[in-house]
Amino acid sequence: MKEKFYITTPIYYPSDKLHIGHTYCTVATDAMARYKRMTGHDVIFLTGTDEHGQKIEDKAKAAGVSPQQFVDNIVLGEKGVQDLWKLMNISNDRFIRTTDDYHVEAIQKIFKKMYENGDIYKGSYKGKYCKPCESFWTESQLVDGKCPDCGRPVEDAEEEAYFFRLSKYADRVRDLLENTDFLEPRSRVHEMVNNFIKPGLEDLCVSRTSFTWGVPVDFDKGHVVYVWVDALFNYTTALGFMNGKYDDYKDFWPADVHFVGKEIVRFHSIIWPAMLMSMEMPLPKKVFGHGWLLLDGGKMSKSKGNVVDPYVLAEKFGVDALRFFLLRTFPFGSDGNFSNEALISTINTDLANDLGNLLSRTVSMIEKYFGGTLPVEQTEDAEKDEELVGLISNLRGLYEEQMEKYAFQNALAEIFNVISRANKYIDENTPWVLAKDMEANGKRLARVMYNLLEVLRVSAILLTPFMPTTSVEILRQIGACECCSKWEAAGVYGSLKADASVVRGENLFPRIDEAKMLAELEAEREAAMKANAKVEAPVEEEITIDEFAKVSLRCAEVIACERVEKSKKLLKLQVNLGYETRQVVSGIAEAYTPETLIGKKVILVSNLKPAKLMGIDSYGMILATKGSDGVLRVAFLDPETENGAEVR
Ligand code: MSP
Repeated sequence: MKEKFYITTPIYYPSDKLHIGHTYCTVATDAMARYKRMTGHDVIFLTGTDEHGQKIEDKAKAAGVSPQQFVDNIVLGEKGVQDLWKLMNISNDRFIRTTDDYHVEAIQKIFKKMYENGDIYKGSYKGKYCKPCESFWTESQLVDGKCPDCGRPVEDAEEEAYFFRLSKYADRVRDLLENTDFLEPRSRVHEMVNNFIKPGLEDLCVSRTSFTWGVPVDFDKGHVVYVWVDALFNYTTALGFMNGKYDDYKDFWPADVHFVGKEIVRFHSIIWPAMLMSMEMPLPKKVFGHGWLLLDGGKMSKSKGNVVDPYVLAEKFGVDALRFFLLRTFPFGSDGNFSNEALISTINTDLANDLGNLLSRTVSMIEKYFGGTLPVEQTEDAEKDEELVGLISNLRGLYEEQMEKYAFQNALAEIFNVISRANKYIDENTPWVLAKDMEANGKRLARVMYNLLEVLRVSAILLTPFMPTTSVEILRQIGACECCSKWEAAGVYGSLKADASVVRGENLFPRIDEAKMLAELEAEREAAMKANAKVEAPVEEEITIDEFAKVSLRCAEVIACERVEKSKKLLKLQVNLGYETRQVVSGIAEAYTPETLIGKKVILVSNLKPAKLMGIDSYGMILATKGSDGVLRVAFLDPETENGAEVR
């Protein structure tokens, strides 16, 4: 019987379209699922969407649709979550939506069970809530008064709520983290223990009454289940736990591994095992917390306007090249900086130069020297072949060792090490010289070609989890039969029949003109930014009317204005407030020439503490906006407005 393997991605929030960061985790999970299938496992690969919570409810309201319509659009709509996974050739066996009936029913039963066993109790919640992260925090967990995960403002929250006795499981969870390899990489263990467990685990608020878009607590109307309880149990309900939709729980639970991004390791390595302990269910074998894809060193986010669209990249570079890049370039456990330059360079170096060249050179030489089919009689040259043959024979083992550790980057490095050795082998054996005297050297030349085909064959098999379409095409071009294209044959040098026939195909990875491509991408990014200029409502900290009253805003007329020497941005203005004239330095020089401002009435923050800008005193600030196009626009007042009049 085949060994079972159950692997999951986090289920995604369909609050916005997914970006390349989300794609990263799903591609990694897909590569692992494909690898496990290839190595003979019976695999379930689960992904899906986490559709409840206040954020979704708010967004739906703002969009004027029901929450269900809102999530349906992002999950099922054009270029939505499911379209993206189809495009990226994701081989998930199951797709769960937390709004699916079977899941909702199961969550209600699970919640009730923990209530009945005494691990969920009713209390009153007082604390801080970060809306965008859907996370509750205690005062002591905040960083500078803000959400420790995303750095945004939190709000006060108090309501009647149910609590989960997380504190009861603190010692068992700590033991799990410290004394088993449940959580990897190990560095994440220290983070969890030091930041969350050592300061003391408090009971977790697991229901809300202030909104309705969630799984209703069926024994207490008005409460909905906290979105993380709802979300985490997806890993079991998708197998049929506490529902009749599937029947795989007994065969596939516990999961072999949950791949999760580093910011949700806390939920998966503390809260999740504690709840499973409460339910007396087996724990997943592993949680692997991968790093983030960063942009310019920071997190990608819709609100920063710096998300990278996987659709654009897949269209420009191809799905397989993009999948390959993601797992070849960044070590899975750490953060990595995404850039178009890195993407182009990986494609040009590894795929166009090394792999693509090896394939096209080999196929065209076999066509040219042998009419496409190698002769069976071939001559070995032990001395010249030994190293390459050794590398081919050992490759599968080295690759497997890395794949079993989820070290995708290293597994790929092993393959490319052999590919680049093969390119050198061509230069060492100079086939074009051998071909000058086919009678004397034909058999030797045939063996040189055969060895190159063997490198391509084994590499293509091992690349299948990363580049499923390309690998099949390589195997086709080198004339590999079905049998010698299997995992078992990847470990055996000589599996390809000696008289293999090649079939020339299109160039798999044409070299990319970097400068041209970068310019194209930049132009498209700008166009997309403009098109998306209607950004989502910002998350803002509220202030009271008294706080606002502290700011004095007044009408000021510009009576003189000049550029500040050596500064591109600054203008020095004299403005009249009716009762006095004062000097202000303002960063609007890129948008206005001094002459155009004279006589204009602007809004001045007149009680701002004086400051020095480039050594010049400034007594106030002129109000202006900065659009998504980056252009500054001053807020001008009606010319009739009296100088010094308060703006309220
Ligand atoms: N809904 C929760 C998960 C619940 S699992 C029971 C969630 N959703 S999410 O859509 O916000 O994020 C899904 C995954 O995408 C997370 O693992 C997150 O780390 C990952 N990524 C989001 N941006 C990312 C990068 N820039 N880079 C890498 N992964 C990133 O969290």
